[in-house]
Parts: sequence; C-alpha cells; structure tokens
Amino acid sequence: MPKRHMEQQPISEWPEPVVAVQLIAESGISSIPERYVKPLEDRPALVYATCREPTVPVVDLGKLSVGSLDYSSELRSIADACAEWGIFHVANHGVDAELARAAMATWREFFHLPADEKQKLANSPATYEGYGSRLGVEEGAALDWGDYFFLHLLPCELKNLEKWPMQPSNCREVTEEYGRQMLKLCGALMKVLSMSLGLDVGFLQEKFGGEDNIGACIRVSFYPKCPQPELTLGLSAHSDPGGLTVLLPDDRVPGLQVRKGDTWVPVQPLPGAFLVFIGDQIQVLTNSAYRSVDHRVVVNEAAERISIAFFYNPRSDLPLGPARELVTPERPPLYPAMTFNEYRLYMRKKGPRGKSQVESLQAV
Ligand code: OGA
Ligand code: NI
Repeated sequence: MPKRHMEQQPISEWPEPVVAVQLIAESGISSIPERYVKPLEDRPALVYATCREPTVPVVDLGKLSVGSLDYSSELRSIADACAEWGIFHVANHGVDAELARAAMATWREFFHLPADEKQKLANSPATYEGYGSRLGVEEGAALDWGDYFFLHLLPCELKNLEKWPMQPSNCREVTEEYGRQMLKLCGALMKVLSMSLGLDVGFLQEKFGGEDNIGACIRVSFYPKCPQPELTLGLSAHSDPGGLTVLLPDDRVPGLQVRKGDTWVPVQPLPGAFLVFIGDQIQVLTNSAYRSVDHRVVVNEAAERISIAFFYNPRSDLPLGPARELVTPERPPLYPAMTFNEYRLYMRKKGPRGKSQVESLQAV
C-alpha cells in the first residue's frame, strides 16, 4: 500500500550488488537466473499484434493548426484517447527526425561501450542518475531484464553533467538538444490536452506549477536479448508516476505492451511518430477524466531493444490534487493532494507495480 506520509529519509544505496543484465545476457547462458523469473500470472504471452486487435490511437498535431477543418474532431479524438487508452501516437510533432535518429544512435553506441566504461557512471537510488539495472530497493525483489541510463534535465539544480556520458563524444550535445525539443513538444501537448478537456489553454501548465518550474528527465532503456523471454519482462507493468511521457521506441524491435481492459495490447511503432503516455499526475489532476496507462515491456531472443523516454513532470514540491474545475457534486475528488516528490518515492522504493499506487490512493 502506498503511504501518503512515506518516510522521507534518502535511500542512498542498493540493497545488494547490481549486475548489468547485458553482462548476464552476453555470458552465454541458456537459462535466466531465478531472480528474473516472473510469477506465472505476470509472464507475457508472446503473441504479436494481429489486425483484429484494437490499436493505439494516432493524434495528428497538424490538424490542430489555425484554420484546420479537422480541429474539433481532432480535439475530441484526443479526449477519447486520454480517457480510454491513456496513450497515443503523435504525428506531425515538429521534432527533428534527424535528431531523433541521432539520439537513438548515440545511446545505442553508449550501451555497446565496454562494461567498465559504463560502470564508471553507475547510479544509486539516491537520485537514480546514471547507469543502472534496477528500480526499487527491496532486498531480494524480482528483477527486470533491462539496463537503463537515467538523467535529470530540469530543474537546472538537479542537472548534474558529471553523470552524463562523455562517450560517445556527441552524446551530451545530442541529448541536450533532444531534451530541448521534447520540452517544447510537451509544452504544446499540455495546451492541446487542456483544450481537449474543454478548459483554458493554460490550465494544465498552471496546475503543474508553470512552465518555469517543470521537472524533466530522460530514461534510455536497453533490453538485451533474452534466452527465455517467456519467463520474464524487460520492464514490469507500471504507470508512469509523472505528468506526460514521450517515448521514442525502437523502430526495428517491438516489445511495448499496454493494458486495455483485461488484455495486453502489443504496440507497433509508427515510423516517425512518438508515443505519448498519460502519467498518474494527470489522472489525479483531472480527477480521473484522463487516465494513466498501465504498460510493460517484453523481451525476445533475437534482438536487443532500445527506447528513449522523456518524462515531463509537475513542480516537485507543489501539492497536487484533483483540480476544482473537474470536481462536481456528482464526481467528488477521488484523490488526496500530494507533492510529486512524495509521490515518486513509492516507485523509487518498490519498483514498478502496475497502477497500484494511484488506484490505492483512490481507496483512501
Ligand atoms: C518507461 C517505459 C517503455 C519502453 O521508461 O517508463 O515505460 O518501451 N518505457 O521502454
Ligand atoms: Ni513507463
């Protein structure tokens, strides 16, 4: 159960030595260590998308330009996507395609550096910044089949360039520019989502604490090949705790699945598009009008997979609860107010656990 008043003492060390999954994968094993084997009910059924399955909606930002004839129908489909799926592809997003390719390429190269090069940037649960292989600090917890690199972009005080790779030589520069363009896209998405709620264009941004106080981080995930993909997950089911996530998925290797009702729907990357995830903070703020999406990553035997997630979060010390504009006598506030600093401790301690945090808050 989440604790509203979770102890705030910093978590500074991992409970046990961390081993990079990539090293395990490259050691030539034919069965995966016990720690990575999921309980039966969490194991993925490795089926691939069929044309009968529902597919994640696509939002075309081009249809929201001034004078567009599709304007109101596009806003309506955004509202439906956020209420029913909590995720959509975004096309005509304005992000430089070449930059996205360069970001993918530089991080792919990073993950193929020698292990000791990457280890120099090993992370700790105090800030999670750097190269890591686990989420959550419970001793003996089951682990996921993936490594990652996490870094803070905003607020500026949290940005610690010492934790950013020096190799590949363009990694810092490309990641900074990628972050800038993502920030701009998220600013635009906040406006679009506010309008799709039928509210003022600046509504969500204001509730987040204003554009100058946004939190932003990047998590690049690396999912090595896995000899027994049917037993494990690259990333266990979770909803993203923050505001919005913009994901650049690997365009060659699928793996992301989203939960729709009782089924896990495989997401096929759409060339040139990003995926936008609604996070828990938007579910709380909209009093559940818009819902965060439960999602997970499956791995495979044939190919490694890389993704770049950009997280756009509210000001971290601002208590955030259901907005009065979205609370009515018929729909009283479903969640207590909480700062994002408090909120994200749950995942940082317990690791990915589906939508358990936001759902159990609702029961309070
Ligand atoms: C995440 C995430 C999905 C992916 O980093 O929160 O859900 O496809 N990533 O790697
Ligand atoms: Ni996620």
